[in-house]
Amino acid sequence: MYSCGIDIGSVSTEAVILKDSDIDEKNFEICSYIIGRTGSDIKTASENIFNDALSMAKIKKEDIRNIIATGYGRKNVSLADRNITEITCHASGVLSVFPEVKTIIDIGGQDSKVIKIDRLTKKPIDFLMNDKCAAGTGRFLEVMAKALDIELEAFGKIFADTNERIEITSTCTVFAESEIVSLIGHGVDKRKIVKGLLYSVADRIISMVSRLGIEEPVALTGGVAKNSGIVGAIEEKLDTRLLIPFEPQITGALGAAALALKIAKSE
Ligand SMILES: Nc1ncnc2c1ncn2[C@@H]1O[C@H](COP(=O)(O)OP(=O)(O)OP(=O)(O)O)[C@@H](O)[C@H]1O
Ligand SMILES: [Mg+2]
Repeated sequence: MYSCGIDIGSVSTEAVILKDSDIDEKNFEICSYIIGRTGSDIKTASENIFNDALSMAKIKKEDIRNIIATGYGRKNVSLADRNITEITCHASGVLSVFPEVKTIIDIGGQDSKVIKIDRLTKKPIDFLMNDKCAAGTGRFLEVMAKALDIELEAFGKIFADTNERIEITSTCTVFAESEIVSLIGHGVDKRKIVKGLLYSVADRIISMVSRLGIEEPVALTGGVAKNSGIVGAIEEKLDTRLLIPFEPQITGALGAAALALKIAKSE
């Protein structure tokens, strides 16, 4: 039996196809996964990514018993059988990789969220979401990378190789961008600006985590978990090692697919 999860985020769309299996306690194996850009047309993005995931798994749409959509665009995925919130899907996806996790931090393109997991039920008991402001999100980092004319992928190495930092005082994306442009104009070393930016994003995330109360182990997911500079800054400030899934950007879709399989089996 196959299932599919589709996560329509503000920046990226992912599809994961699972097949039921009794090899381990997860009861599934991953047949394929695809990560693509969402763009302006959710319907087309979801269809293209779904079709790519089908071809990669070498199966047809009719082979899939249940399709669940999640993410901010979940209600616009007409090929899905149902949709489930991001909090539930992320929790399910992360717990399938790290069953011991107590706190999940997901940093995506337009929002960041913290989810607390109940140690007995293994279900989300509380969460906080920052979706009103771009600061502390992947989009903030994308805007700053552009202003600095440095690839986002280079931020991790800069974080590791640079000792000093320039404090970025503006928290608003627009003001922070002007601040950076002005610092560059004054000839400040861009690497020190990057280091300051990474700590400022880490501070925003940690203040959100602290409001919920941090409980270890902590997992980090979302595309921003691929930015080793952010990982390093958060780990340093929280003084803990973060658990990062093998592909941190697909956990929402993975959780949706795992729930789709569970529902299909119980029907
Ligand atoms: N290889 C990479 N290196 C560094 N950062 C990356 C990389 N890939 C993605 N990102 C970051 O991940 C962000 C997108 O994350 P993600 O795909 O989780 O967002 P999303 O799910 O579409 O958004 P949301 O959940 O907020 O709706 C980008 O804005 C970028 O900052
Ligand atoms: Mg997301």
